[in-house]
Amino acid sequence: MEKIKVEVNNISKSFTNSEDGKPLPVVDNVSFKVNDGEFLCIVGSSGCGKTTILRIIAGLQTADAGEVLVDGEKVESTSSKKGMVFQEFALFPWRTVQKNVEFGLEYKGLPPEEREKISKKFISMVGLSGYENSYPHQLSGGMKQRVAIARALVNDPDVLLMDEPFGALDAQTRNILQDELLKIWTETKKTIIFITHNVDEAVYLGDRVLVLTKRPAKIKKEFKIALSRRRKRTNIEFVMLRKEILDELMEEINILSLPST
Ligand SMILES: Nc1ncnc2c1ncn2[C@@H]1O[C@H](COP(=O)(O)OP(=O)(O)O)[C@@H](O)[C@H]1O
Ligand SMILES: [Mg+2]
Repeated sequence: MEKIKVEVNNISKSFTNSEDGKPLPVVDNVSFKVNDGEFLCIVGSSGCGKTTILRIIAGLQTADAGEVLVDGEKVESTSSKKGMVFQEFALFPWRTVQKNVEFGLEYKGLPPEEREKISKKFISMVGLSGYENSYPHQLSGGMKQRVAIARALVNDPDVLLMDEPFGALDAQTRNILQDELLKIWTETKKTIIFITHNVDEAVYLGDRVLVLTKRPAKIKKEFKIALSRRRKRTNIEFVMLRKEILDELMEEINILSLPST
């Protein structure tokens, strides 16, 4: 039997709106499990509660109800078991690539030689050797996101939590980074929870795709992506799955709320 790495049990969350003081339900009784080494994608419409779910798993936010277990232990706070990669390139602008990647190692108190050795390994893994001494403003969006991935990997987290990490990139760069991420996943055998609103990306990357409802987020449907790796976007099964998932998602996007033109 497969080992379960992450277990999300019946989590719910509301935010209280400061204007009228009414609670806004954002996550409604969400449960799912992620196997060790699995690549799980979660898709949902904009504003449905995706980031909130990921922040609860990361321990950055508390749920009103329910619990998250990693390796059977309840998540109470952030820990080095979980590495987080956000959509925004949350790099320190005053630090070089290498110093950005070394951040978590400094925090752990590792000596400089060891930090350098480890950071160089991950800088190379994300294809940025030669850019160690560059500053974020000297890098393209894709390169910045590579740095963010390396920075999450240096702490050797078991679980990588990725919140629309390629959302701000152009389509071509996005596709290249998807392949890079799959390569890293194969090499490191991390468990990945990857949030996106892009169905094509989810079908390309995931072993499984969860579709969320509109806010408050519930699990609407689960799709197993039983396609062999080195997937081809033009493959007929790929196209059919993409359509099936997109149809589910489109039902959750309220067309009437879009501005008419
Ligand atoms: N800290 C917060 N305080 C109040 N409302 C929030 C907070 N975080 C998120 N929300 C609200 O919760 C809803 C879902 O947000 P989020 O989880 O970021 O959605 P998604 O990532 O799917 O776009 C949004 O309506 C957002 O405005
Ligand atoms: Mg979000």
